[in-house]
Amino acid sequence: MTTQGTPESIDIRPVTAFDLALLGELHAAIFRAPWDQPWSAQSFAEILAMPGAHGWLLTSGETPLGFLLARFILDEGEILLTGIAPVARRRGHAARLMRVLIESARTAGLRTLFLEHAAGNEAAGALYGGFGFSRIGRRRAYYERRGGGREDAITLRCDLAGVRIPHQGGPLE
Ligand SMILES: CC(C)(COP(=O)(O)OP(=O)(O)OC[C@H]1O[C@@H](n2cnc3c(N)ncnc32)[C@H](O)[C@@H]1OP(=O)(O)O)[C@@H](O)C(=O)NCCC(=O)NCCS
Repeated sequence: MTTQGTPESIDIRPVTAFDLALLGELHAAIFRAPWDQPWSAQSFAEILAMPGAHGWLLTSGETPLGFLLARFILDEGEILLTGIAPVARRRGHAARLMRVLIESARTAGLRTLFLEHAAGNEAAGALYGGFGFSRIGRRRAYYERRGGGREDAITLRCDLAGVRIPHQGGPLE
């Protein structure tokens, strides 16, 4: 999937085994807070080896800018992790990855998507809220932070029959 006629040529494609090192580098560039846990190429390999695991990589030309990992099990799916390089944020890239995910989930016959994000992550809350995810719970002290401390997780659910697709008409529609 490639956008045409835009200043950036954005492509989203499934992750392959050749992308593992690159995903580790992208993760380090995205999750830079002192409390973030690093993910190595091996971490990505293990996640993508899980049954039902899917991954997509978003690139601009040759430059990788973001990724989304999810897992599909029967008629339910879970977003495991997504992120966009700091230099490329607020250009609709995470929304593009979400649209690819939702299209794939529907094609695979999924009915519901779940995810959790850190309670303090307002950008994530706004992104998923925009697609119609609604809050179903809070897990106290769910995330362990490097260097100590813990943070609550907010759990979200989206019924794919009623999903909203914001940014209609934009690239990759
Ligand atoms: C959250 C994240 C993935 C958003 O990526 P992005 O490409 O900048 O998001 P988009 O440009 O597609 O934005 C889509 C919508 O999300 C919301 N949003 C994104 N960033 C936001 C921010 N910093 N503050 C408030 N809302 C935000 C907005 O509603 C936005 O729509 P709009 O631009 O029309 O207002 C990105 O900030 C990121 O990688 N953060 C670090 C990693 C992370 O938190 N991952 C998610 C948890 S797993």
